[in-house]
Parts: sequence; structure tokens; C-alpha cells
Amino acid sequence: MLQFLKKLLQKFKPTPTPEFIAQQLRKPHGAFAKTIGERMNESNRSLYKLVLQHLQLQPGNQVLEIGFGNGHFFKEILNKAERLKLYGIDFSSAMVKAARKDNAELIRQGLLELEMGSSDQLPYTAGLFDAVFCINVIYFWDKPFTHLQEISRVMKPGARFYVGIRTKEIMEKLPFVTPLFKLRGKEEIQRIFGECGFELIQTQQETEPPVTMYGATYAMEGMCMVFEKKA
Ligand SMILES: C[S@@+](CC[C@H](N)C(=O)[O-])C[C@H]1O[C@@H](n2cnc3c(N)ncnc32)[C@H](O)[C@@H]1O
Repeated sequence: MLQFLKKLLQKFKPTPTPEFIAQQLRKPHGAFAKTIGERMNESNRSLYKLVLQHLQLQPGNQVLEIGFGNGHFFKEILNKAERLKLYGIDFSSAMVKAARKDNAELIRQGLLELEMGSSDQLPYTAGLFDAVFCINVIYFWDKPFTHLQEISRVMKPGARFYVGIRTKEIMEKLPFVTPLFKLRGKEEIQRIFGECGFELIQTQQETEPPVTMYGATYAMEGMCMVFEKKA
């Protein structure tokens, strides 16, 4: 009976609006945060895989992830090299809470340190990081220069910044992509990063498995852009 009622309620539950989904993706919050976090883990797994393939890390490196969602991929990242110290920053209190809970052991062992905050105001000393990466985050930067200058400040000269995103052409077709997303093509991203002292080293584009949401299936095309902070 309970199962039947649950199914009935599910049937009449209103589909979230594109604006609601966009706001949740930008900054997961409230009762929907857990759901959106779990969905992102599924739909963004292949993009994480692409970025992790490119991430060049040496033993003992200090690494920062910006906008980690619920921190589902921290363990895989820490397996990339010996003695890594991983830092994460996300401005969603719900995501920081979920990531701290799911990764309590890594935090306890001193392998992982998580902060709540924004990429335009980082709580780290200058020149701390050997590598920085973010996945599905730069769409939400209204003023990219402020974020890039701050990220550059905390990177060592010659350190690399790995940016995982879906292509502009693919994003434009997705139903939840409202004006909250600032979509930029490869050349525009290269120009903006270049103006902030980042040199493009490599761009790898890859067709990902399609994603089904709300009854429709969408093609996915991911990109990993690798930048180096000029010395
Ligand atoms: C679309 S989700 C992507 C999550 C995860 N990286 C993934 O690809 O599955 C964007 C994440 O970045 C965080 N975020 C967005 N803008 C941010 C900023 N300026 N500083 C820190 N975190 C940010 C959000 O809170 C959210 O957790």
C-alpha cells in the first residue's frame, strides 16, 4: 500500500523547472541538494574521467579542486600519486557538509581539507598549489577575471589548471541551461585565461555517453582544457 502511494505521489510530483535545476546546479541547496549531488555524480563521471586522465601529479603535490559537489571523486584523485594533499573549496554549504560526511576518513588522515568559500576569494596562501582543477564550474563565473586572478595567486609559477566543461554547442541544447549559465566557446575561454596569465597547453574533446533526463536523451561532449600559469 505504502509503495503504491509513493508511486502515485511520484506520478503527480511536478517536474522541476529549468530555472530551478539551473539554480541547483550553480549552488545546490535545500531539500533537493542531496538529489542533485547524486545525479551530478552519475552524469559527470565521464567528464571527471577525462580530466583525471590529463591531471599530471607528482608525489607530494598540493592539489586544489574548486566546486567539488558532494566530493564523490576525491578517493580516485588521491590515488593518482603518492603522498598527495588534496584541498577542496565549494560555496554550497550543503555540498561541503555532504562531502565532509562521506570523506570523513580522508579528512581524519590529513589527506583532504575542505572549505566553504568561493573561487574569487580563496582562503589559501600565495603559491601553494602544484595543480588546480574544476569541473562544470566556470559556466557560473560572471566575472571570470576576478576568479582567475585569485586562482593564479594561489598557484605556483608553472603550475597547471585543468578545466573540465561541456562544449558550448552541447550546453545550448540542454533544457536546464538558462541565462544563469555563461556559455563560452574554446577560443573565448583561451582568450580570457590568456589575459590572466594562463597559457593553453592542450584541449582534449571527447564524446561522452548520452545522458537521459526527464524522459529525453541528450548527447554529451566534454572537454578538458589544460592551462599553465606563466612563470
Ligand atoms: C554543476 S556543480 C558541479 C559539481 C562537480 N564538480 C561535478 O561536475 O559533478 C557546480 C559546483 O560548483 C560549486 N560552485 C559554483 N561556483 C562556485 C564558486 N565560484 N566557488 C566555489 N564553488 C562554486 C557549486 O556549489 C557546485 O557544487
